Amino acid sequence: MTAMETPVGYGRMHRKEDARFIRGHGNYVDDITLPGMLHGAVLRSPYAHARIVSVDTTAAEAHPKVRAVITGETLAGLNLAWMPTLSNDVQAVLATDKVRFQGQEVAFVVAEDRYSARDALELIEVEYEPLPPVVDARKALDEDAPVIRDDLEGRTDNHIFDWEAGDSDRTDAVFAAADVVAEQDMLYPRVHPAPLETCGAVAEMDKITGKLTVWTTTQAPHAHRTVYALVAGLPEHKIRVVSPDIGGGFGNKVGIYPGYVCAVVGSIVTGKPVKWVEDRSENLMSTSFARDYHMHGEIASTKDGKILGIRVRVLADHGAFNGTAQPTKFPAGFFSVFTGSYDIEAAHCSVTGVYTNKAPGGVAYACSFRITEAVYLIERLVDVLAFELKVDPGQLRMRNLLRPEQFPYQSKTGWEYDSGDYPRTLQLALEMAGYDRLRAEQAERRELTASGQSKDLMGIGVAFFTEAVGAGPRKHMDILGLGMADGAELRVHPTGKAVLRLSCQSQGQGHETTFAQIVAEELGIPPDDIEVVHGDTDQTPFGLGTYGSRSTPVSGAATAVVARRVRERAKIVASAMLEVSPDDLEWEKGRWFVKGDPEAGKSIQDIAMAAHSSLELPEGVEGHLDATCVYNPPNLTYPFGAYICVVDVDADTGQVKVRKFVAVDDCGVRINPMIVEGQVHGGLADGVGMALMQVMAFDEDGNHLGGSFMDYLLPTSMECPSWELGETCTPSPHHPIGAKGIGESATVGSPAAVVNAVIDALKPYGVRHADMPLTPAAVWCAAHGRPLRT
Ligand code: CDP
Repeated sequence: MTAMETPVGYGRMHRKEDARFIRGHGNYVDDITLPGMLHGAVLRSPYAHARIVSVDTTAAEAHPKVRAVITGETLAGLNLAWMPTLSNDVQAVLATDKVRFQGQEVAFVVAEDRYSARDALELIEVEYEPLPPVVDARKALDEDAPVIRDDLEGRTDNHIFDWEAGDSDRTDAVFAAADVVAEQDMLYPRVHPAPLETCGAVAEMDKITGKLTVWTTTQAPHAHRTVYALVAGLPEHKIRVVSPDIGGGFGNKVGIYPGYVCAVVGSIVTGKPVKWVEDRSENLMSTSFARDYHMHGEIASTKDGKILGIRVRVLADHGAFNGTAQPTKFPAGFFSVFTGSYDIEAAHCSVTGVYTNKAPGGVAYACSFRITEAVYLIERLVDVLAFELKVDPGQLRMRNLLRPEQFPYQSKTGWEYDSGDYPRTLQLALEMAGYDRLRAEQAERRELTASGQSKDLMGIGVAFFTEAVGAGPRKHMDILGLGMADGAELRVHPTGKAVLRLSCQSQGQGHETTFAQIVAEELGIPPDDIEVVHGDTDQTPFGLGTYGSRSTPVSGAATAVVARRVRERAKIVASAMLEVSPDDLEWEKGRWFVKGDPEAGKSIQDIAMAAHSSLELPEGVEGHLDATCVYNPPNLTYPFGAYICVVDVDADTGQVKVRKFVAVDDCGVRINPMIVEGQVHGGLADGVGMALMQVMAFDEDGNHLGGSFMDYLLPTSMECPSWELGETCTPSPHHPIGAKGIGESATVGSPAAVVNAVIDALKPYGVRHADMPLTPAAVWCAAHGRPLRT
C-alpha cells in the first residue's frame, strides 16, 4: 500500500478530521456564539494565602454593561460555594473565607461583552489580610507551618494522605543483604500540560424546559454531567454536556474548574447563555498542574549489576485542594509501577501527600496517573547504579530487563504486565542508534576535552519504560464512584453506511479516523462510510472519557466488540438471504459467503439493506443491523519502549542541544501507524520540554513565576531533532484487537532519556544527578559544583 491510500481497516490514512482543521473549520468552545450570549470573567487572588475581610461589588454592579456579579457569598446562598474534586476533597468555587493560592477564583462578573466583564473586575474591591504561605512542600508538615485547609473540620496540619505499596520487610531484607546500594534524591518539578486551547465553557440554562446545556472543554463529558447533577442538584437527563473540538487536553481538561460552574450559575442568574474562556495566564496559574514529586530512591544490586530491590519515599505536593486525578483506590496514581521493566526481588514505596499554597491539580499530564514520575525515578536510579558500578547503562538495562517468558508478569507491587519482549525492543533501539559507534565517538570526545582541546561534551542517554494504560477494571478502578467502563453503539444504516457512538473524547488524537478504522477492519465497511460521534452526552453512551491513553484500550475494545456483535447479526441475516444455516457461512472482510462456494456470498452492504427489508428472519431475531456494548477491561494494557537520546553540551555555557533521538515503541497492534507516530512525535517534544526548560516556579511569597509562554517555555522544532522511530509489536493478549495505548508513551519515557544523556555528558565532571529542568544555568552549576539559585 502506498503511504496514503485509504485502507479498509488498519493502516496509514490521513485523518478525517484534517478536512476541517486545516481549513480553519474546527469548532472550539470559543467559536460558539449563541443569541443574546453574555460573557464572564473571573477575579483572581493576588495573594497565595490571605483571609478575605470583605468583597465590595457595588462599583462593578453599577457598570452599565454588567449584568451580574457573583461572589462566594452568592454561591454559598445556593450551596455552591464548594465543589468536589476528583480526589474526594472539596475546592472553593469562589472563595468565601480565605484564598489559598495565587490566582484563586474570588468573584465572577457577567457582562454584555468580554472587555466590559474584564474592566468591571477592576471595580471590585477586595480587602485581604495576608497570611504566611506554605510554598515548599518539604516545610508543609513543620509544626509551625500555617494550616492551609482550616475549612476542613478538625484539621490541624497540612497532611493529606500516606500511602504505600510493595513489601517493606522483604525489601529491607533484600537491601540489607545486597552488595551495592545507591540512593538519590530527585525532584520531578511541577509542570503544566499547557494545551494550546485554554479552558472554557458556554452555559445555557433554558428556564422553560429546565434543560442546561454546557459546551465545554472536557476530556470526560459524561463524568462532568454526572458531577453537575450531583453538585447542582439538577436532574441528570436535563443536563447536556457538549465537548466540541478540543485543542489539546493532556490531562488539563479532566477536572471541573470554578469557571465552568460560574458560567452555569451566571446563566441561571441572568437567564442568558454565558461564555467564559480563560486566557493563557489564567490557564497556567490556576488550572491543574502535574508532577511535583520530591522523591528519594534507593536501588540495591549485586556487585556485578543484578538489580535486587527498589525502595522509594515520596513527598507529593498537591497544592491547596487535593484535585489530583486518579482512580479512587490509588491516591498516588499508578506510581507503584515504579519497579519499571526490571526483574527484581522486592520493592516498596511510601507516598505522603501534603497541601501547599499553590494551584490544585496533580493531573496525569500525558500519562497514566503518575507513571511518568515512576518511570523517571527508576530510569534515573538505574543510571545512578551504572555510575556507581562503572558499567554501561545500556548493558545494565539489558541484563536486568524482564524476559519474554516471564509474561504475564506479576510485579512486586501488584501489577500484572500483559505482554512484552523487552530485550528485542532495546536491542533494536541500540542498533538503530548505532550505540557502539556513539560510545566510541564519545570516548574520543572525552579525550579531547580531557586534554583541553575542546569544550564540547557529548552524552548518550538510555531509557526503557513500561506504561500501564487503559484504566480500568471496574472492580479496582473508579473516579468519584463511577466505574471506568466505556460504552459503544454501532448502527449500520440500510445503505451500509454506519454511525459509531463513543463515550471517549478526542482532543486531537484522530479518534474519528482510527475508531472508524477499527469498525472497517471488523466489518469491511470503508472508514469514510463510518461516522464517529463523540463529545455530546445526548448523542453518546456513558463512559469515563479520554485521559491516561485509555481510549484505545477501553473504547477501542468496546468498538471492536460492538462491531463483532454486528457481524454476528449480519451472519444470521445473510443465512436467511442465502437460505443456508449460519454454521455454513464463512467471513471474509466485508462479506459472509457459503463455505466451499465463495461466489455465493452477501456483502455487508447487501446484508444491511436486507436487515431493514421485509426479509423473513428466524424466530426471535430482530431486524436492523446495530449493537451496543459496555466494555469493562479485564486488565490494563502495558505498552513499552526503548529510547536513546544523544546530546551535545557546551561546557562553557551549559547549553544543551538534542542531536539525535531514537524511539522504539511497542503498543501492540497499530491501527493507524501514521497517527501513532504523530502521538510519539508530540510526546517526545514534551519530554524535551520537561527535561530542559519547563518548571512552574514560585517565589517565597507564593507568587507564580510562570504565567506566560515567555516564562513557561514550550519546546519548538528548534529544540527538537528529527525523531528516528522504530517499532516492535507485542499484541496485548486480552485486548480484542491486541492494541495497547500509545498516546502518552513518549511523554512518559522521554524525559528520563534526555536527562540521562545530559548527566552522561557531565560524567567527566563527576556529576551523578541534577534535577530538571536542565537549563543552561542548571547544567553549568552542576558541572562546576555550584548550587543552583532558583
Ligand atoms: O486515549 P488517547 O486517545 O489519548 O490515547 P490512545 O488510546 O493511545 O490513542 C491515541 C491515538 O492513537 C488514537 O487515535 C488511537 O486510535 C491511535 N492508536 C493506534 O492507532 N494504535 C494503537 N495501538 C494505539 C493507539
